[in-house]
Amino acid sequence: MNILVIGGGGREHALVWKLAQSPRVKALFASPGSDAMAPLARCVPLDLGQGGKDVISFAQREQIDLVVVGPEGPLVEGLADRLTEAGVRVFGPSAAAARLEGSKAFSKDFMARHGIPTAGYRTFDQPQAALDWLAANPGPRVVKADGLAAGKGVSVCHTPAEAAQAVRAMMVDKAFGQAGARVVLEDLLVGQEASYFVICDGRDFVALPPCQDHKAVNDHDQGPNTGGMGAYCPAPVITAAVEHKIQQQIVAPTLAGMAAEGHPYRGCLFVGLMISPQGEPRVIEYNCRFGDPECQPLMMMLDVDLAELLDQAATGKLGERLAGVQADRPEHGRVPAGTGIPIRAGSAACVVMASQGYPGPFAKGLAIHGLENLADQPDRVVFHAGTRRAQPNNNAEEGWQTQGGRVLGVTARGDTLAQALDKAYAAVKEIHWEGAHYRTDIGKKAL
Ligand code: AMP
Ligand code: GLY
Repeated sequence: MNILVIGGGGREHALVWKLAQSPRVKALFASPGSDAMAPLARCVPLDLGQGGKDVISFAQREQIDLVVVGPEGPLVEGLADRLTEAGVRVFGPSAAAARLEGSKAFSKDFMARHGIPTAGYRTFDQPQAALDWLAANPGPRVVKADGLAAGKGVSVCHTPAEAAQAVRAMMVDKAFGQAGARVVLEDLLVGQEASYFVICDGRDFVALPPCQDHKAVNDHDQGPNTGGMGAYCPAPVITAAVEHKIQQQIVAPTLAGMAAEGHPYRGCLFVGLMISPQGEPRVIEYNCRFGDPECQPLMMMLDVDLAELLDQAATGKLGERLAGVQADRPEHGRVPAGTGIPIRAGSAACVVMASQGYPGPFAKGLAIHGLENLADQPDRVVFHAGTRRAQPNNNAEEGWQTQGGRVLGVTARGDTLAQALDKAYAAVKEIHWEGAHYRTDIGKKAL
């Protein structure tokens, strides 16, 4: 197979790393890719706009068998639809299905229609109506911009005054532009957060090992939220009993509901969950893609041919890998037997190293030292989220430089979570640049 991966971050580096191991893969491309991916995939700068024309003509020219779309933006904007219309096979949902992530109001209404457990909510288009409702219903609330706001359009508010301020910032001051023209006000859920991923073909799904991310920038979940400072899997907060509830009460009705509404979900469905102290899972949000950094430890744990798996999902053939379920499938979206997937023993963990100042403004172009001693091993890979490699001769110092807020995702597998963490942190300690920072408590909750 010839495969094109869309994206250039740590998640896509992990996808490319895993796809490159598939004996089925003949040629691997990434767009834009990154300097770190270059040894594994040919990196090509394609324009994702203009109705996907550039991607389509590249796919036709290079005889691409499967396009794997990493980030949500192009999916929400309909790249998968355009590719499908042009006869190019794609792993990733249609724009209509990607509304599960692209519109909070859509996803909340969808969950209400299908009885999927989530926080109580109300949606508002007018700031005054939202403020009046908050005044009449005091209590802890979460204020969310309806549209995509690069993971930043959510304010957890413990007092009515904080909530009112968040509403004004989004709806009046337009802190997130059009994304905040409509807001969702949610009840605050308590418990432990977890990330649950299923690969879907529109009807069936296979579940990946449950993960836990670390959103706050500092140890002990302090400081502002980030895209994620580290992740590990499997996460013991999702016991077998909790996982069964997630599949029965959330995943299966989500897939059945999307199919029944005419938008079957194909691709990776990422369910962000709050697990209550009583072990009841509730949906915080859906995402229409792999998590970043969750994807990095997940790829290290999967004991499958990723190219085959994603291709089966893209072609509605996941049923073929689900033991004994080819025959009689009376209804869409029911939980088939054996929804799990072969995974390697033990646990994997990813520690994100970030630029000083992230998630606020940060400097770029700082020289990174120590990577030369950390060549990839099957059980330890430094995935690059935001780096570039300065070439010899151009005045700047030759070698790796920082380029993003999240810079590296140092990922390792071990026979136990403690071993995985030891291995990852040992590598982190070898890597240096000015102002580099990382959390020292990734995975601690599970130890
Ligand atoms: P989201 O972008 O919807 O995932 O929200 C970002 C973060 O806000 C989540 O990871 C949670 O930590 C928090 N959050 C969102 N909604 C809720 C809620 N209803 N209750 C508690 N925390 C929430
Ligand atoms: N790590 C959370 C996300 O990818 O949204």
